[in-house]
Amino acid sequence: MRRRCKTAILISGSGTNLQAFIDAVSAGRLNLDLTVVCSNNANAFGLQRATKAGIPTVCVRHTDFPDRESFDAAVIANLDRFAPDLLILAGFMRMLSPIFVARYAGKILNIHPALLPLYPGLNTHQRVIEAGDDWHGSTVHFVTEKLDGGPRILQGRLAVHRGESADELAARVQAVEHQIYPEAAGWVGSGRVELRDGQTWMDSKLSDEPVKRTF
Ligand code: GAR
Repeated sequence: MRRRCKTAILISGSGTNLQAFIDAVSAGRLNLDLTVVCSNNANAFGLQRATKAGIPTVCVRHTDFPDRESFDAAVIANLDRFAPDLLILAGFMRMLSPIFVARYAGKILNIHPALLPLYPGLNTHQRVIEAGDDWHGSTVHFVTEKLDGGPRILQGRLAVHRGESADELAARVQAVEHQIYPEAAGWVGSGRVELRDGQTWMDSKLSDEPVKRTF
């Protein structure tokens, strides 16, 4: 039997996506070994979620380091003790250096709250509302050196309600994330999806477009 994929989850805050992974694994819907949770923020509520679930935690404060490279080197040193097969960025609000991305090439996933390639960067919900878009959502993608620009795997989209606030829209997008992120991570963990030559492959076929779900 294939060994369960050792998975590190990196967070900075509330960790509702982390909770979705914990819940999916404990319900037997997701075959990953949640090996460690790492935060750059000692006050991240997600650390409490991990501890409650019995997952080891590490905290590497970015404010303790003079630059991105030395912070990333410390995160790598901490993660390597757990020999992860897969890294899940779940609201990890630090940009990764090229050294970090190269160290775990093809093994890092991120979720970004927009229908990439639309709206990379911050404040996506507000920008979608201001643009008057009909659709919004979230994208699971491989992490490469290009911020929010790595090959996409799975997208969940929903219709924007006329007159809703950015906070209301964000909450609905997060509920979508809690479904699509564990699902996409399961595909990568099982080897069904992989990053090959800078592109997403699914079931041994090149996947130009992400899998798309409407909620
Ligand atoms: C998520 O909505 C995720 O899409 C976003 O941070 C939130 C974390 O929430 N990530 C980014 O904006 C990355 N560019 P959580 O801590 O409750 O999982």
